[in-house]
Amino acid sequence: MFDRRDPYYKKAKEKGYRARSSYKLKQIQEKFKVISRGDVVVDLGAAPGGWSQVASEIVGPTGIVIAVDKLPIREFQRENIVRLQLNMQSKRLLQYLSDELQRDVDVVISDLAGNVTGQWHLDSDRQLHLASLAFNTASTFLRQGGNFVTKVFRGPNLEEFEKEIEGSFEFIKHWRPPATRKASAEEFIICKNYTGEDP
Ligand SMILES: C[S@@+](CC[C@H](N)C(=O)[O-])C[C@H]1O[C@@H](n2cnc3c(N)ncnc32)[C@H](O)[C@@H]1O
Repeated sequence: MFDRRDPYYKKAKEKGYRARSSYKLKQIQEKFKVISRGDVVVDLGAAPGGWSQVASEIVGPTGIVIAVDKLPIREFQRENIVRLQLNMQSKRLLQYLSDELQRDVDVVISDLAGNVTGQWHLDSDRQLHLASLAFNTASTFLRQGGNFVTKVFRGPNLEEFEKEIEGSFEFIKHWRPPATRKASAEEFIICKNYTGEDP
């Protein structure tokens, strides 16, 4: 799984990022500017914490990153990251975002992933299900004008998902960051300017 010759693995290690996938978010950010200084960012499927580290650097001390995962996430050195260990479908997440956070959510990012079976259709549909769950959270909590990024796998039902989210954002694009491994079916959907309209 970990190839020590992989340049992103090496870079992540050198820079103290917890996952090579940090570079995927960095590249998405470079191209699409999805996160701004001072933003509140909800990071779904955050363990071990690579994306949260990158988001935390971008939002700075006036922003907050809420790192959500069903697995435990080790404590961060940075003070602007809140860790929530929970299943993202649990009521506790709704409760936290609607009652305890007391700030608007500017960006939802999702690198949620389950176990892959190697069966292309099945894996792609399961990934789309996670992307749909992430979109539900985004459409419930994003402020108008907010942004959303989610991981998907290329597959027969991807278009259907894109139709589902179409009217909710002014800008939607799918993109494979250079840090995504060549053999992977993964890509990311980048959505900007939430319209506030339900699908
Ligand atoms: C590819 S990893 C995320 C890596 C992370 N972006 C990083 O840079 O460190 C995907 C994560 O999604 C989490 N996940 C999958 N389904 C979940 C769910 N229903 N609720 C919460 N977390 C979930 C997994 O536990 C796993 O840690």
